[in-house]
Amino acid sequence: MRLLNETHRLLLRGVRGESKQPGEVRRSQNWIGGSRPGNAAYVPPPPNAPPEVLSAFERYIHADDALPAVVRAGLLHVQLETIHPYLDGNGRIGRLLVTLLLEHWRLLTRPLLYLSLFFKRHRQEYYRRLNAVRVDGDWEAWLDFFLDGVATIADEAVATSRDLFTLVTAHRQRVIHHTGVDLLAVQLFERLPSRPIVTAPWVVEALSTTKPTAGRAIEALEAAGVLAETTGKKRDRVYAYQAYLDRLRAGTELGDE
Ligand SMILES: Nc1ncnc2c1ncn2[C@@H]1O[C@H](COP(=O)(O)OP(=O)(O)OP(=O)(O)O)[C@@H](O)[C@H]1O
Ligand SMILES: [Mg+2]
Repeated sequence: MRLLNETHRLLLRGVRGESKQPGEVRRSQNWIGGSRPGNAAYVPPPPNAPPEVLSAFERYIHADDALPAVVRAGLLHVQLETIHPYLDGNGRIGRLLVTLLLEHWRLLTRPLLYLSLFFKRHRQEYYRRLNAVRVDGDWEAWLDFFLDGVATIADEAVATSRDLFTLVTAHRQRVIHHTGVDLLAVQLFERLPSRPIVTAPWVVEALSTTKPTAGRAIEALEAAGVLAETTGKKRDRVYAYQAYLDRLRAGTELGDE
């Protein structure tokens, strides 16, 4: 819980909900939808409940359980949303939790599973399935929906990484054969997949070089059609590997996190 609270605190820093006691388990009654508990879509447990139910939640994370890890992550997500331990940000921390658990349980080697997009695309069904667990005990339908989400998003991630690989391979050829490209420009190009937005000071630092040399490398990649300046300013310019970012964002227009 200490880790979850600390993560929640960081997650809400500077974004919606930042004034609603980030990192602190609520000590008051909350509700979802409506203007008061009486007309709400869902009323989470009373304010004295979280400490006890969260310790049960935590015990389940650490307990031995023969269920597959993805199923356990799905159960933990619905439980967290049902407990609604924070005044805001329960959705965001609950979605992050799934990805972090799958990494912790070694189903993922990196926290790469962007479930938010699936829940956003199917928001009505997502809410309906959560409520059906609470009202009808329909865990199976929830898990069906959740596992479908994991499979869909995983397939999309594989397609994205394949496309990005193809894109970078094609651009690498273009860069290598472009006039004016020197070793430093190639080195900069190889850094772009993990750092698709760069500035001149960053290049100086990352490639341990001088300002003029960094500037030439950026110019060479601009000329090769890989980097594009994004601010339109004369100073503090920012360069983006636009084609890469575009592919990374494809289909995510609904997402805001
Ligand atoms: N009508 C509903 N029925 C059931 N669960 C709901 C409903 N509305 C919201 N939820 C759950 O509550 C979460 C929203 O809680 P909260 O506002 O604390 O978090 P958030 O991070 O701001 O959410 P989000 O980013 O999803 O809008 C949703 O993501 C969902 O899990
Ligand atoms: Mg909210």
